[in-house]
Amino acid sequence: MGGPSENKRPGIAGENVRPVGRTSGTGPIAQGVPIADLADGGKFMGHTGGEQVLLVRSGNEVFAVGPHCTHYHGPLAEGLVSGEAIRCPWHHACFSLRTGEAERSPAFFPIDTWTVEARDGKAFVSGKRAQARPKPRRGGRP
Ligand code: FES
Repeated sequence: MGGPSENKRPGIAGENVRPVGRTSGTGPIAQGVPIADLADGGKFMGHTGGEQVLLVRSGNEVFAVGPHCTHYHGPLAEGLVSGEAIRCPWHHACFSLRTGEAERSPAFFPIDTWTVEARDGKAFVSGKRAQARPKPRRGGRP
């Protein structure tokens, strides 16, 4: 118990894909990410189309979002997931996992989102979605 391999998870189609906790891991996600490997609130860092993508499970859904906060590029892979939102660990901006919209300052601009399809127990990331428009805020900022 507690051996060095205890926290490792099997790769996807022979690739090394690791869950993201306090340390980050990366891997291709083209072959799909087994949904059962993602705990509620769990994350995988992957890449598709040459871009980094953070997969986040919330309840029975898996979302794919840009991994960096639009405030000062904070690492959302280390953020807290609450319902359908993820909170940046640096200054606590909050983003919708569904739309990418910045729901809470200090971020004003949305993060990217991708369409995720669930097939055969795996989450597949397909096209990038149109970015949410920044909501007008008091004080004239976007
Ligand atoms: S870097 Fe994310 S809130 Fe500042």
